[in-house]
Amino acid sequence: MGQFEIRAKDGLARLGKFTTKHGVVRTPLLMPVVHPGKSAILPRELVENFGFQMVITNSYIVRSHERFRRKALEEGVHGLLDFDGPVMTDSGTFQMYSHHLPSEEIDPLEIVRFQREIDTDIGTILDVFSDPSVGRSQVEKDVQISLERAEVSVPEKGEMMLAGTVQGGAYEDLRELSASRLARLDLDIHPIGGVVPFMESYRYSDIVRMTLASKQHLPPQRPVHLFGCGHPMLFAQAALLGCDFFDSASYAKFAESGRMLLPDGTMHLESLRELPCDCPICSNFTADELKSMKEEKELLLMKHNLYVSAAEMRRVRQAIQDGKIFELAAYRARGHPALMEALETTLSILATYSASEPIGKTASLFYTGPETSRRPEIGFFHRRMLERFPFKKTHTLLLVPHHADHPFSDTAQGLMEEARIHQNENLQVAFVAPFGAVPWELEHVHPAQQCVFPKKIDEITLKISLSRAVELMAKVQADNVLWLSRETPIDILKGPLSQANNIEVLDSIRKLKNSLPQASGKESWQHRRLRAILAYQWNLQLDSMNDFEIVISKGTGKIRHIRSDNEILFTVIPQSGLLAPTFRGGEVLLKAGLDQSYRVCMSVDAVEFVEEGKSALAKFVLKANDSLLSGEEVLLMNPDGQLIGVGRAVLNGPEMLAFDRGVAVATRHSKL
Ligand code: GUN
Ligand code: ZN
Repeated sequence: MGQFEIRAKDGLARLGKFTTKHGVVRTPLLMPVVHPGKSAILPRELVENFGFQMVITNSYIVRSHERFRRKALEEGVHGLLDFDGPVMTDSGTFQMYSHHLPSEEIDPLEIVRFQREIDTDIGTILDVFSDPSVGRSQVEKDVQISLERAEVSVPEKGEMMLAGTVQGGAYEDLRELSASRLARLDLDIHPIGGVVPFMESYRYSDIVRMTLASKQHLPPQRPVHLFGCGHPMLFAQAALLGCDFFDSASYAKFAESGRMLLPDGTMHLESLRELPCDCPICSNFTADELKSMKEEKELLLMKHNLYVSAAEMRRVRQAIQDGKIFELAAYRARGHPALMEALETTLSILATYSASEPIGKTASLFYTGPETSRRPEIGFFHRRMLERFPFKKTHTLLLVPHHADHPFSDTAQGLMEEARIHQNENLQVAFVAPFGAVPWELEHVHPAQQCVFPKKIDEITLKISLSRAVELMAKVQADNVLWLSRETPIDILKGPLSQANNIEVLDSIRKLKNSLPQASGKESWQHRRLRAILAYQWNLQLDSMNDFEIVISKGTGKIRHIRSDNEILFTVIPQSGLLAPTFRGGEVLLKAGLDQSYRVCMSVDAVEFVEEGKSALAKFVLKANDSLLSGEEVLLMNPDGQLIGVGRAVLNGPEMLAFDRGVAVATRHSKL
């Protein structure tokens, strides 16, 4: 039975809940490393005063000190730590590595058994930590040994959850091999191991490659732990990659050498005249006071480090909830060039992924720098638009530069009406925004309307916008391409565009009117818009749209509902611009032959609940398509293929099948 549950997703990042015998924790989470005997700050304090939820200690250290060992065997690790919250234990892998201990020092099976005997919540296998300086063949051997140990450790775990560490050094293929082999074993959580030396030498970009290579092959229902990642400046980026667990010995190690952790870097107390932090320690003392202290200094710095680390992890969780983890990671990346490089690596790798989840996000996308246009959400929108938009070979393509600070139609209201553009099927209008080109029919679909860019546009953004406009032009294949020159920074693209392509630049609406093709076609522009959204959202091409009555919101002028026979079929979700079907709308989609990938089949046990409007739980999902993305609006079916409800997918298809806990589809409407 899996213990992990996803509450919300933002890209690869996930907001989760993890159940242990000693309580439920919220992820992403940070576990401070505590020493079994001489922890300066007790686990109970860590929870009560700093807001941590769980701690990690080292079973090898416990076991090698007779005093700790006896107490742990008698009273459990919880008794030893005087703590009744969740505890994870590590195995001694890192001590073997850093102190060059002989391999006989720890028996891989005994240490797992010992962890079970002391009743830890999560134990860890004795994986082999590869030093970054060793060659590939040694790393291969280390991976093999780690895998063999994982295999023989699983039968020993009993009630304890077991962490199976992914090793493989900086070799992505070895990470993949390691992860896919561990995935087959009955493990509960997967640390990404061997990263500490990469962290210490600022090789963050390598950590990104190592983490994503591993992640891809790990079962989605098991949390991923970035082993040894305790610096708060890395939390947002690591969460962006899908890491759920973190541990920190850094808070103590840094304090020992007079260093202060901050969300955007490290400061040496000795170099400070001011304390640039708002934690209770930095608020109560001046830099000089701290500097002049003797014994107390280290403890106070430790506390500062803990406050800062805990706060950053809360920020990470809130950012995922808000759909803003990318922004947070991008802000943090400004703290160190190596983090910028890592963000760059993340973006290049994510660009090769076919999707960005969840679909139908509602958060606005704030420009953080030239990387913004390459955000996975924007890239995905562009690709899906090119793939699904019902392009027809048209007489004229009209490109209108538009800064995207307002909905396109608001800005171009006069233009759209005067030129009677909407009604004209010989004409395709698209606006060219800093993040790319968008057919006006999709102007309200996320992220087209939700990108917030500064007035001054950087060169990289312009280049990307240009190339996306060219791709759109290739799809439309119009006889004529017009560019309506307007006073907006993006208008500068007319230069390079008209050089490379046959484009006529017009500088007034009056001139434009003379250049527009004869109006033709009967479909109203609102129906045309609906047709485009149906295609974009569900890959649905309907012959006739005549039955659909479109209700416009008086306040915003946007589509609010789609009705038929006086019944609402769809509601437009204002922030995402996508359609949420009613139950009746679900029936219409089904009749129109909605693709299987948008249907989720529930087991008989769940049918009654869903029909009452309760959410569809992952453990009752019978069938879900591999290609279903989280965030899609889907149909809930019973095993006989009848519609029982409609709702928004919280998980993607593979996750729906993999998870035993949590909501798979948040039901919007049901049969009853
Ligand atoms: N602590 C830091 N890195 C590692 C690792 O790779 N494996 C284990 N077991 N513990 C660690
Ligand atoms: Zn502070």
